[in-house]
Parts: sequence; structure tokens; C-alpha cells
Amino acid sequence: MKVTIDNITLEVEPGTTIMQAARMIGPEIAPPAMCYYEPLKGTGGKCRGCLVKVTAGSEKDPRPMPKLVPSCITSVQDGMIVENTINEQVLETRKGIVEFLLLNHPLDCPVCDQAGECHLQDFSFEHGVSATRTVEDRNTFDPVDLGPYIKLNMNRCILCYRCVYAADQLTEGRVHGVMHRGDHAEISTYIEKAIDNDFSGNVIDVCPVGALTDRTYRFKSRVWFSKPEDAHCDCDKCSGNVTLWYRGDEVIRVTGRKNEWGEVKEFICNTCRFERKKTSDWVIEGPTKIARHSVISANKYGANLIQPSFPIKQAALEYKLIDDDRDRSFLPARKSLPSSEKK
Ligand code: SF4
Ligand code: FES
Repeated sequence: MKVTIDNITLEVEPGTTIMQAARMIGPEIAPPAMCYYEPLKGTGGKCRGCLVKVTAGSEKDPRPMPKLVPSCITSVQDGMIVENTINEQVLETRKGIVEFLLLNHPLDCPVCDQAGECHLQDFSFEHGVSATRTVEDRNTFDPVDLGPYIKLNMNRCILCYRCVYAADQLTEGRVHGVMHRGDHAEISTYIEKAIDNDFSGNVIDVCPVGALTDRTYRFKSRVWFSKPEDAHCDCDKCSGNVTLWYRGDEVIRVTGRKNEWGEVKEFICNTCRFERKKTSDWVIEGPTKIARHSVISANKYGANLIQPSFPIKQAALEYKLIDDDRDRSFLPARKSLPSSEKK
């Protein structure tokens, strides 16, 4: 099927969603996703962060769709035309969605362990407005320990349901979920029953905000002070492919490896995540690739930044003019580098 997104046309398989098609083009065109999580079936359709404008429904019926549609759960039709980054209404609505998600979310990034890898932080930085219009009190909840490894800060939850789908699909008996409805809705377990399944730790990785955090890592370091390394081990429960987060020589956290959309590639077991915290437990593969724009890469690559070398400086000064008859009177006079720099 042919689909055009932001004036870029591509062909996709039937059943592809607008989000998936946009991701094939690249991160500049892909809509933001706060609840959709490709590795987990059924996710999406909750946060409205990914709304786009369909200006032509299909080749057969080219009428525009009357309202913005969630791109993560809307399938592409042949001949569909979609606008995302080039549509004013979409961008304006996204500001409202950020404002809505922040209605009850505390602005506690300075003390939140998710800071630096929080999707809501990225979303509000890229699409939010700098001021708030709300004066009402936020919903507040006491932090809860969900077993020995996971801390729930319900104040920060945006009810994306990712952790519910993760527990449903990765563990045998889900013991937590969204209780109540409307503005009373909250993530909870019955009588705070511990989540002690082998794969329960994955809810930490899928949570886009700091609502579910690793109790063995909390407050140990800001993420941008730690160094991530890919490593693997021979594990009989999971693939054993992980990212180790180092502070100095100490492994302070173990997580699943994530793709460019921040989604876990292979879910890992609790033994790998919480109990293998020594370098000797792992075979180190090398530094994890981190997107250059991410705050996680801050201060890590200074030694690799190369000063422009002599040949580049020389080339800039001694370029050859193209042999044509255009007026070049505005060009600077050619100069040579002093011989002391010709090394
Ligand atoms: S706890 Fe996290 S993953 Fe679960 S619904 Fe809330 S924001 Fe989503
Ligand atoms: S990512 Fe599409 S509605 Fe949340």
C-alpha cells in the first residue's frame, strides 16, 4: 500500500499502522509515543501523544478524516495522506496533550531516577509549553514497595498501561493493574501484594516515566554519570543480553537493551536484572550505542572530539575557485597558513 506522510511517500504491507510507517521513514517524522510499545501486543490508544491529521483517507475515498487520529492504532489505507510535523493543528494539539499529561504529574525531575531517560521529559521538552495554566492541587499518593525490587510512585504515573500489558504477556499471574476509573484510576496491587514473578522487573523498563523504579538502583546515580556497556551471560531463563550501567568499576544497574525508540529488544529475567551485579558475572561486549542527542552521552566522548587538523584548515584557506565567469569580488583574498602550523 502507498502512504504519504509529511510529503514522503513509501510502500508498506497491509495492516501496517501509520506509526509503524512513519518509523520506517525515521525519527524526525515518527510521532511521539507515550503508551504504544511495539514489543507488547495491544499497547497504544491511551495517551493521544501520537495524534496525526489524515488529509486523505485512501485513494478510493480521498475525503479527510474529520478528527485527528491516533497513529499507533490506525492502519494505513492505500493512497492515504497523513500530516504530522507539518500540520499546525497536530502541533497545537500536542501542546495540549503534554499539558494534560502533566496535570497530575509532579515536576520532580531533579529527584526522580528516571530523569535523563524519561519519555515524558522528552515529550514536554519537544512539544510542551513552558508555563502551566493549572492552579489546582495534584493527585498525590504515598510511594509503595511492590516487593523487594520495585518501587511505585503513583504520583508520576500517566496511566499508559504498558506495565499492565508487560505483566500480562511476560509473567504467569499478573497481580497488579489499573484500579478504579476516571480521576480515581491508579496502578495498584491487591493489598499491595508483592510482584515476585521471574520477569516482573520488566515493568520498570517499559514504564515511560519514573512511576516504577528499580529499588536496587534508586538514588545511586544520575543516569548521565553512569556508563552503559552491552554484556551477556549464559542464562537459562532469558536471552542474557543486557546493558550494564557502571559508576566507576561498580555495576549499579542492569537493564534490558533498548532500540532507537526506547523499547526493550529482549525482555530479561529478574536474576539477570537484580542479582548479577558483578562484572565477573558477565561477558562485556563494549559500550552501548547512545543517541548523540541524549543526555546520557554527556561528558563521555570529550576525548574523542578531534580538533580540525592542519589539512582541513589548509583546505579551508586554499580552496580552488571554480573556473567559471561568476562575479567573485565578494570572496575573501586567498591566504596561506604560517609555516609553523604546517605539521
Ligand atoms: S506505572 Fe508506568 S508503565 Fe504503568 S501505567 Fe503508570 S506510567 Fe504506565
Ligand atoms: S502512542 Fe498512540 S495513543 Fe499513545
